Amino acid sequence: MSDTILIIGCGSIGERHLRCFQKTGRADVSACDANAALLQRVAAQYGAPGFTDLNAALAARQYSGIVICTPAQTHLDLALAALRHGAGVFIEKPLSTGLAKVDDLRDTALKSGRFVAVAYVYHAMAWIQEAREFLRSGEIGRPLHVSVATGQHFPTFRPAYREIYYTRHETGGGAIQDALTHIANTVEWLVGPTTRLYCDAAHQALEGVTVEDTVSVAARHGGVLVNYALNQFQAPNETVMNIHCEGGSVRIESHDRRWSVFRRGAPAWEQHQTPPLERDDLFIAQANDFLDGLHGKPTLLATLDEAVQTLKFNLAALESARSGRAVEISA
Ligand SMILES: NC(=O)c1ccc[n+]([C@@H]2O[C@H](COP(=O)([O-])OP(=O)(O)OC[C@H]3O[C@@H](n4cnc5c(N)ncnc54)[C@H](O)[C@@H]3O)[C@@H](O)[C@H]2O)c1
Repeated sequence: MSDTILIIGCGSIGERHLRCFQKTGRADVSACDANAALLQRVAAQYGAPGFTDLNAALAARQYSGIVICTPAQTHLDLALAALRHGAGVFIEKPLSTGLAKVDDLRDTALKSGRFVAVAYVYHAMAWIQEAREFLRSGEIGRPLHVSVATGQHFPTFRPAYREIYYTRHETGGGAIQDALTHIANTVEWLVGPTTRLYCDAAHQALEGVTVEDTVSVAARHGGVLVNYALNQFQAPNETVMNIHCEGGSVRIESHDRRWSVFRRGAPAWEQHQTPPLERDDLFIAQANDFLDGLHGKPTLLATLDEAVQTLKFNLAALESARSGRAVEISA
């Protein structure tokens, strides 16, 4: 039997979720977007019932899951409304732009007993899942030092960047909340939560915006030292994470769908390659995970607590970049 799913916000990522939930073959999908012209186009293209008003969408039927794909400052209010409706909730990253209402969401989620997860899509990547499993096996000991270099030419991937939430911190914009948050969440998933960081950030290159597009972070994740280097103007679309442990190193080359291990004393990297994927494949896998979660099955999706932790990373990085000081992050 199909689950009834409502997508709120049918812009760039919302349309992808709508299509990918349909492609699971397990979901009857409806669409809600405040932009009537956009909604009409999307609803017609995918044959989905469409609503410009959330209350009308919620009154029309009972949904088992609601997927929130609006700008970040609206996520928590919409998630609360979805839980009150009785649905499970899948929230796009970042969880929010501030900590207000986070406790309310946690309490409401707990009381509702509904499944809640956050769409940090790196959790759906087989090469990240496998590297994490290997690190957790303890075969090469504890992680001690992580270095991450990541970037892409954002205008190529998101030509509309000057006209969307990206232009302002208040709406979840800038490199820290939009791009680095994916990477910080992944590193936290691999080696544990960030406890302290120093962040330097600047607007270096992107035309038509003033938010930071380049970020350097020196962080502690408990006993692990982590360096993040990210920009949104470089030509190659690449993400490389080196996780150096007591007895060897793990390297994740996410753009090549590969993770590798170099054991101390070994002659070379041992590589683990994932075959090519279509871009929708990760989002279909993610949609299937969410549907599994609605039915009480275990998933690897980012939990609400993990997303709250990464929200604290985002806020600490913004504060450090403003103040020029290191910021402690409490659990
Ligand atoms: N995981 C990923 O790879 C990924 C990629 C892109 C965006 N995102 C995240 O998804 C969210 C949306 O990003 P986007 O790029 O799709 O933005 P977008 O601007 O393309 O789309 C947002 C849509 O939400 C609609 N909207 C806003 N408030 C609404 C409301 N209260 N009710 C109904 N509709 C409303 C707008 O009309 C717009 O169509 C952001 O949090 C962003 O960070 C994630």
